[in-house]
Amino acid sequence: MSSALTPSVLRDLAREFGDRYQPKKLRALMVAGSGLKLEIPGWEASEKIPMAEIMPFDMHHLEGHDHSITLWRRGEESLMVMNGRFHLYQGYSPAEVVAPVRLAALLGAELMLATNATGSLDPEIPAGSLVIISDHINLQASNPLVGAWGRDFGPQFPDMSDTYDPEYRKIALRLAREAGFEVFEGVYVAMLGPSFETPAEVRMLGKLGGTVVGMSTVPEVIAARQAGMKNLVISLASNPAAGLVDRPLTHQEVMEAGQEAAAKLRILLGRLVENIIR
Ligand code: HPA
Repeated sequence: MSSALTPSVLRDLAREFGDRYQPKKLRALMVAGSGLKLEIPGWEASEKIPMAEIMPFDMHHLEGHDHSITLWRRGEESLMVMNGRFHLYQGYSPAEVVAPVRLAALLGAELMLATNATGSLDPEIPAGSLVIISDHINLQASNPLVGAWGRDFGPQFPDMSDTYDPEYRKIALRLAREAGFEVFEGVYVAMLGPSFETPAEVRMLGKLGGTVVGMSTVPEVIAARQAGMKNLVISLASNPAAGLVDRPLTHQEVMEAGQEAAAKLRILLGRLVENIIR
């Protein structure tokens, strides 16, 4: 049964989660594509908690799909790793999409480290590249801070400059290059989806200053920013955006590119945690 995600509901949720799982010093929220098998040197995966057990709203996920939180631990410290995320295009409300971010913030996390899949708007950025996100353009026509209680989670009008932490971006670029991966930096354009963009939209988004286009992450980044968390977002450019090559775009192509890139992301995320969370 769904209930409104008011500040008091979220505070109760955080208290129950804290009592039950004792995350102690929660260092970061990580949002990884579902099915990404992480290896984080020095940390151990402990409890895996189905999202439906935590969140007080209806799940729209298919039976059998992994949609959970894994707690990773190193002594007293923990990391909250989301396996799969909530998308606006699935019919989740903006408040539902950002509920895990607010939960992590209430439990003390100071960093959100997220990955996603995108279409490349730049012919110079081939499919399979990693793109460290430096900024975003929100074209989802929605914002998780809209609403009567948005301001209870932080400033109602948060500054959005340097939302993507400049220091962490530098580290991510360096680590990706050291690992031998093709890596770029650029602007993420958030579309609502779930249809892919038209070729005319892709031309427009490129002219507007976008580097890659996707259907996720920006609501979470805004909520994390409001809560005072730092953000680091790494995109996998899984395909050239529509119209940049002469063939239709399929969900299959995006999924397959994701599988191939999973190894890169696993290595980079592991090294990032080693370098950033000391
Ligand atoms: N467009 C929007 N979202 C995406 C794409 C795309 O081309 N590829 C992966 N996610």
